[in-house]
Amino acid sequence: MKTVSLNGKWKCKADVKNIGIKNKWYNFKSYNVSDNHLMDIEIPKSFNLLKGFENFEGIFWHFNQFELNEEKDINKYDYQIMFKGSNYNTKIWLNGEFLGEHNGGFTPFFLDLTNLIKTRNNNLVVRTKNIREKDQIPSISFDWFNWGGIYRDVELLILHKNRVKDVFIKTKLRTRQQSKIEISYSIIGEVSLKWQILDSSKTDVLYEGTSPERSGKGSFNLTINDPKLWSPNVPNLYYLRIFNNSQKTENLLIFNTYFGIRQIEINGIHIYLNKEKIFLKGASLHEEYMPYGRTIPYEKRKEDVMNFKSLGFNAIRTAHYSHDEALIEITDKIGLLVLEEIPVYQHCDFKNSQTYETAKNMLKELIYRDINHPSVIWWSVGNEVPLHQRNCARFIKKLIDFARELDETRIITCVSRKLIPDLTRKYVNVASINSYFGWYYGHEKMISLILDIIRTPVHNKPWIYTEFGAGAKYGFHVDWNKQRKYSEEKQLQVLDYTIRTINLKEFFSGWFIWNYRDFKSPKRTNKFQEGFNRKGLVSGEKNEKKLAYYRIPKIINVKRKTFNTKIVGIILWIILFPLSFFLFTHIIDYVLKYFESKPDYLNR
Ligand code: GCU
Repeated sequence: MKTVSLNGKWKCKADVKNIGIKNKWYNFKSYNVSDNHLMDIEIPKSFNLLKGFENFEGIFWHFNQFELNEEKDINKYDYQIMFKGSNYNTKIWLNGEFLGEHNGGFTPFFLDLTNLIKTRNNNLVVRTKNIREKDQIPSISFDWFNWGGIYRDVELLILHKNRVKDVFIKTKLRTRQQSKIEISYSIIGEVSLKWQILDSSKTDVLYEGTSPERSGKGSFNLTINDPKLWSPNVPNLYYLRIFNNSQKTENLLIFNTYFGIRQIEINGIHIYLNKEKIFLKGASLHEEYMPYGRTIPYEKRKEDVMNFKSLGFNAIRTAHYSHDEALIEITDKIGLLVLEEIPVYQHCDFKNSQTYETAKNMLKELIYRDINHPSVIWWSVGNEVPLHQRNCARFIKKLIDFARELDETRIITCVSRKLIPDLTRKYVNVASINSYFGWYYGHEKMISLILDIIRTPVHNKPWIYTEFGAGAKYGFHVDWNKQRKYSEEKQLQVLDYTIRTINLKEFFSGWFIWNYRDFKSPKRTNKFQEGFNRKGLVSGEKNEKKLAYYRIPKIINVKRKTFNTKIVGIILWIILFPLSFFLFTHIIDYVLKYFESKPDYLNR
């Protein structure tokens, strides 16, 4: 396969009145440079980074011309266009013909161009729409900025007519000294397959084999003794390449990828990586780095991962959607465990079958993209959805089952904020809790007892404290005894106490600070927020490190000295549960839904 980048100088224009389709803007023969409504845009780039469109939520058309000049015989190959990420609805035309559309802002999608592409003067037209709709994933209300448009790479894929696709590498450990590798694939056309596994420097062929000419699906297994295991501390990688070895195509490379040998397992209330118990420590991160928006340079992503490691973190939660695959390549190479999720966020249209199909497709696109990345250890099918509601629980259960059907080798979960009535905790591999004691409600000193209470009914699996935190405006300081909201001292107090408390709980297998970096959220407009969610360890505008940033490495493994509240928790669960907690969480949900339904935060 060859890829040709279609990044670069494109033209674009807003379609404020939504007249583009009616007026056939897709019949775009060539740049009409006199059309002064056309603006330049350097793809990949969100149209919200264009002057005057900073808060635009609507439709943008993008225009590009490309050549195929290096291809002599155009019929020798198949051709696809790949968008790595375009938000939210994307419609694509080539040479005036409609190719197809995609819903979803965070996973790659592919469209076949084979019958329409020409060697020269290919007119590519892409219409993107980031207007929030009730039946979309995410729905109307979410706590991040709705960056719209083609914000990740666009590539032309030149594919051999006989090739493999959906190559999935699953690694299991019998012991740390012996691993079983299963590699499955689908064949397009006919392939006489030869495979090789090399060391990560691609110099020594360590294992190789062949499989006879065939079509359809195929797989092969091998056992590796004394494997170099992948882990965050020692991120060993291997390299797989596959050739089509038929007479006509001697040793033609048709597939290659790095992969890692590791296994993630659950046993009782603990998580095991490569047969050793592991405790996950990290933070969540939105895909946003100002002034780049979501189109973050590789070096900046690498800098973030290096900072996570320097903080003592061994994991990252890519909230609330999959980030660019470049980040996952970095976490594979540098060594950081990744928790990925799809943006089934809070209140979605759980009764709508089309909404479910959109979520299912996103989950499939994500798993198919990242299944061979050793650093990814978990798929979450949602965040803070009303799991006490039956429609929602059914929707989530179907997604959990679908994820497990695609990939039984990873943790499958749904991140919850439900203290008690969560109808899906029995289906997930790992239970989770988001809660903000000490910030939104209560005091951080309540956490120890709360965790012992909520854990009582779900005592047979690991728990992760998936979100906790407090806002702080960088540079706002008060005396320690003042504890003013949005001061760096208050943030440090909440994080410090919570971390040392969770480290104490033997049924917890990890925690994730919300959030590594402040991020744009137009609903947050008080004088400290200024359009940002301020719970980051670093500021959103200039990455300035707050007090808590320097404290984390010192307490990352520290356990708070206190008495064990486990028995008290069980007793309170028996007394309190039946009514109060149920009502309590319903009331929270109703109040949150009311505030989230506030009028539009972006101009339409
Ligand atoms: C929730 C939610 C986040 C949100 C956070 C907050 O837990 O998962 O998306 O940003 O709370 O209120 O800061």
